[in-house]
Amino acid sequence: MIEYRNLRIALLGAGSVGSQVARLLLENRDELAARVGAGLDLIGVAVRDIDAPRDTAIPRELLTTDASTLIQSADIVIELMGGIEPARQYIQLAIASGADVVTGNKALLATHGPELFDAADRVGAQLYYEAAAGGAIPIIRPLRDSLAGDRVDRVMGIVNGTTNFILDRMDVEGDTFENALAVATELGYAEADPTADVEGFDAAQKAAILASLAFHTAVPVESVHREGMTTVTAAQIDSAQKAGYVVKLLAICERLVDPETGIEGVVARVHPALISRMHPLAAVHGAKNAVFVQAEAAGDLMFYGAGAGGVETASAVLGDLVSAARRHVAGGPGTGESTHANLPILGIGAVITRYQLTLIVTDKPGVLAQIAGLFSEHGVSVEAVQQTVATASAAGSASESDALTATLVIVTHEATEAALAATVAAVSANDAVVRVESVLRVEGETP
Ligand code: HSE
Repeated sequence: MIEYRNLRIALLGAGSVGSQVARLLLENRDELAARVGAGLDLIGVAVRDIDAPRDTAIPRELLTTDASTLIQSADIVIELMGGIEPARQYIQLAIASGADVVTGNKALLATHGPELFDAADRVGAQLYYEAAAGGAIPIIRPLRDSLAGDRVDRVMGIVNGTTNFILDRMDVEGDTFENALAVATELGYAEADPTADVEGFDAAQKAAILASLAFHTAVPVESVHREGMTTVTAAQIDSAQKAGYVVKLLAICERLVDPETGIEGVVARVHPALISRMHPLAAVHGAKNAVFVQAEAAGDLMFYGAGAGGVETASAVLGDLVSAARRHVAGGPGTGESTHANLPILGIGAVITRYQLTLIVTDKPGVLAQIAGLFSEHGVSVEAVQQTVATASAAGSASESDALTATLVIVTHEATEAALAATVAAVSANDAVVRVESVLRVEGETP
């Protein structure tokens, strides 16, 4: 048997994931060589500061601040620096010098993916990115390879561990958002500035990556409809629980036909939503992630696990490295990025889903009928109404303060976002409505 020469591996970045990749690559050298059919030589690790403290020690002679020279000597470059620049130019340099690339850089792929895939395609290089969405969870390869013969209709994921931790604590412990965020920060899940997580930016980047793969269409992150979860209250969680739902921050990517225009396209969105406590995603607790995929032939599939963490994410990176290395040994063109479908990207207005509205209304005869009439006028069908105990009004005027108010929780049948928005506007303008407390989308089946 012909022995393949050892492959030269360059690592860019030695943070929590990078340092674990270096450790596992060095510790499991023989086993990885057996799986690949060639040795994997870690020839260098490019870092900004050679003396910076690291999660796990890397032999000093491997560390360098000269990323460009390292890249140009490598067969496979692993980019784990994060951020847009200089990661983008280093990946371009790697592709131009004939290397394959493994990256976990979701921000870069969600904003510059097409440019990098084109550059790789032009020279027959491969770009692997299992670690860019869902950490350790294998979801990129299932969408790209395992489901390549099927038609994916919908991907619905909990793809941000920090926000799932917070919402789960609010649900299980009855905690407020502020307390749950403080615990997430103390435990190291949330960053000092949690904006990227709680406002849904991180999940939107992952949604763009998953939608692009699922629908063979380049979906830029700017086209992902994004709402954060900072406005979710303990009262909403409580009312969701009573109705058999749980609130999750969901990334939903779906193929649908715009009811206005009849055009088939793709919508990607990130927002808090109610899902039935019987749905598999409701069982995703703590900081875990999961992605629920609905495909025409395969039916429902779910992928679950650690969405972050140094050693966990290193598993995804090493899986990609082994794939890239095997291709060097076996030869062949590899898999190009597939965007042939090039479906139109539709706005949030095309989405059809169910909604839960919580209204504070004055408790007097005829109010329920009036409100039901407004739903009916806008073509939104009511599935369930729950009225809870009337309390003394907190509203401002003297006459209102004498009146009693009631809380109405209305769950609708499926409606378009446009019809729902018109209904909410009409309901808000009605004299009997003290305020619209909240509007949440409801995804999946009724409990
Ligand atoms: N901050 C992310 C999370 C992990 O909380 O899931 C990295 O994408």
